[in-house]
Amino acid sequence: MTSTAAPWWRDAVIYQVYIRSFADSNGDGVGDIAGIRSRLPYLKSLGVDALWINPWYKSPMADHGYDVADYREIDPLFGTVAEAEQLIEEAHRLGIRVIPDIVPNHTSDQHAWFQAALAAGPGSPERERYVFRPGRGPDGAEPPNNWLSVFGGPAWTRLPDGEWYLHLFAPEQPDLNWQHREVRAEFESILRFWFSRGVDGFRIDVAHGLVKDPELPDLPPRREPESDGPRQHVDHPHWDRDEVHDIFRAWRKVADEFPGDRTFVAEAWADTPQRLAAYVREDGLHTAFNFDFLMSSWDPKALRAVIDDSLAVLGAVGAPATWVLSNHDVVRHPSRYGRMTVNQWVANEPYRPEGPLDLDLGTRRARAAVLLMLALPGGAYIYQGEELGLPEVEDLPEPVLQDPIWERSGHTDRGRDGCRVPLPWSGPAEPFGFSPDGAAAPWLPQPADWSERSVETQSGDETSMLELYRRALRLRREHPALGDGTLTWLDTPPGVLVFSRAPGFVCAVNLSPEPYRLPEHASVLLSGDPVENGLLAPDDAAWLAM
Ligand code: GLC
Repeated sequence: MTSTAAPWWRDAVIYQVYIRSFADSNGDGVGDIAGIRSRLPYLKSLGVDALWINPWYKSPMADHGYDVADYREIDPLFGTVAEAEQLIEEAHRLGIRVIPDIVPNHTSDQHAWFQAALAAGPGSPERERYVFRPGRGPDGAEPPNNWLSVFGGPAWTRLPDGEWYLHLFAPEQPDLNWQHREVRAEFESILRFWFSRGVDGFRIDVAHGLVKDPELPDLPPRREPESDGPRQHVDHPHWDRDEVHDIFRAWRKVADEFPGDRTFVAEAWADTPQRLAAYVREDGLHTAFNFDFLMSSWDPKALRAVIDDSLAVLGAVGAPATWVLSNHDVVRHPSRYGRMTVNQWVANEPYRPEGPLDLDLGTRRARAAVLLMLALPGGAYIYQGEELGLPEVEDLPEPVLQDPIWERSGHTDRGRDGCRVPLPWSGPAEPFGFSPDGAAAPWLPQPADWSERSVETQSGDETSMLELYRRALRLRREHPALGDGTLTWLDTPPGVLVFSRAPGFVCAVNLSPEPYRLPEHASVLLSGDPVENGLLAPDDAAWLAM
């Protein structure tokens, strides 16, 4: 698949497959590669351009695959390398590209390198590939610094031999030392291993975390986020350090060794849009997730500011924007938007919305939000199940919770399991077609009423979320105004966002409490709810042909 004009990734719609929860072919209650293969026709008919697949490598699954023990093996829970190759080939035959996740910030504690480091002991060259240090205090019983794990608790664990090792996530995920030549060489080799098996790119996990300040200084005291005024970048000892871009310049060279348009998308949390744009230079990565859009509340000013800033800053470096509403780490957006309280969401801080949930409202807004997202210039990500309007499952019983955040937070944060519940495909009862008949129970229980949300129930129902996604994706592919390009804002009353795109397209989103009279148009191409008398209801959006 070589490109003719602009490279495909500039405006691709990429569907995120959380492999554990997508489709289970062998009946063990956990999704797998064969399950993805069996559902390729569904993905084709949905109309996506590519799949991002969460980590499928050999892993003890302390963080569901984000703890990799062998980057050149597929975990037996999910399949084999041969099956991965089959999936890539079958997807390509359908015109769908495949982008696995790569996890370079840390390995599993079961990785051969970490096991060798443990065995070799303090001061050994094996330990230099990770971040081992003596402790502080008279007997070294204090961690080397005050860094915190993203999952809760200190970022250091002490070994019986007295040394401490760094893990910005779980203790089973020791951080690699990216100052080490062998670490760099090994990952370039892993990229080549998968590129030569046909993958079209990688999603880079925790791209902003690889380089640490070599002095490992303490974190400065936490500053309260300022609600007003422009956001500012603050130098941080382990997030978003400038030196990280050297690594990705080298990765870009590796990608460019292969034919076709191979691509990288960075999971990078940056203080400002300018800092994010630094990841996507001509000689760096291709795109980065725009978490500002995902973190924005359902608020016209906030959304418009995010859109303008993203387009301006990325446009200045010639990169396309990417838009994303949900993923496997955050509360599903119908459940975020269905709450009246506007919470301040700070990057790298846990965010669990509070207050009563109005799921009908959240769902209406989710319908409007996807029309907004898919009309914006650039690429977009769809997290599996959002096309079914799945809400966050907020009442999973405590004994089934599996996210390490639950334990690490001392049971104060329920973690991310609520957005990872296996998909409902068909049928009246669990497992709703997720697994074959007679299978083990799904690894997380599904809500009893999810038959209403299944692919089978929604297919052909013109009012369903699934059909809205299908139509939107079809229109987006066909309409010459959509995808890469620019937009022009139109003057509107407060609370309404309306922009035009050439040729002949307008997107209107009503975030105000009043119905909004749409501008003169030739026809309504698509809307969340039917438009009556030219009026767009509150919390709805419409695509217009002009
Ligand atoms: C990223 C992943 C998340 C994982 C973490 C550690 O943020 O998206 O799921 O837990 O990295 O690898």
